[in-house]
Amino acid sequence: MKYIIANWKANKTAVQAVQWCDDFLKNNRAHLEKIEVIICPSYPFLPLIKQKLAKLPFVKIGAQDVSFFSAGAYTGEVAAATLSGLVDYVLVGHSERRQYCAETAHIVFQKTARAIEAHIQPIFCIRDAGDLIPSRVRFIAYEPVDAIGTGQNETIEKIIAVKKTLRLDQKTRFIYGGSVNEANISDYMTCADIDGLLVGSASLDAHHLTRILQRI
Ligand code: PGA
Repeated sequence: MKYIIANWKANKTAVQAVQWCDDFLKNNRAHLEKIEVIICPSYPFLPLIKQKLAKLPFVKIGAQDVSFFSAGAYTGEVAAATLSGLVDYVLVGHSERRQYCAETAHIVFQKTARAIEAHIQPIFCIRDAGDLIPSRVRFIAYEPVDAIGTGQNETIEKIIAVKKTLRLDQKTRFIYGGSVNEANISDYMTCADIDGLLVGSASLDAHHLTRILQRI
C-alpha cells in the first residue's frame, strides 16, 4: 500500500473546499488499487469532506493537528475524542507547528499519546533524523524544512540515508514530504523504501492531485 497525504494547511474557504471535492470526484470515480489518499483539510471542513468523498473507498480523512489536552475546559482546543470517528489519521509535529506554534518534543509526544488513545493514527512528522520519535508511532513523515514549499525536493539518496539512521521496524511506514508534485512523484513512488508522500501545495488543486495519483 502506498499513501498520498494531502495537507491543505490553512488554505481554502468553504466554497473552495466544496469545489475541490467536486473536481476530485469528477476525475476519480474508479477504485484505486493499493493507494490510500488521506485528505487533511482545516478542522471546519472535516465532516464536509468526509461526507462528500465517502463514495471513494481509497480516500481517508486526516486532521492537521490535535490538542495535547484530553477533552475538558480548554477553550479553542480540539480534543482527540472530538475527532474520533471523524478522522482516521492526524498529522503531529509538522515543522510549521514546531516553528510557528512553539511545539516542543514534549507537546508532540503528548499529542501522539492523545491520538493513539482515541484510536486515531498519528502521522508523526520529523525534520531530520535527530528529532525524537514516540515509540508507538506507525507512520513517520520525514520533511526536511528546506524542502517544504521551496521547490527544492530532497534526493532519494538522502531520504534513504535518513530512513536507515532511524532503524525503523517493518511495521512502520516511512513517508517523505517536501515539494512533491506531478513532475517528481514517479521517482519517489518507484522507490521501495518510501511508503508514501506528504503533498502540500500541489494538493490544493484537485486536478493536480489527480495527475499525481495517475502517475503512481
Ligand atoms: P509542500 O508542503 O508540498 O508545499 O512542500 C509539504 C508539507 O509541508 O507537508
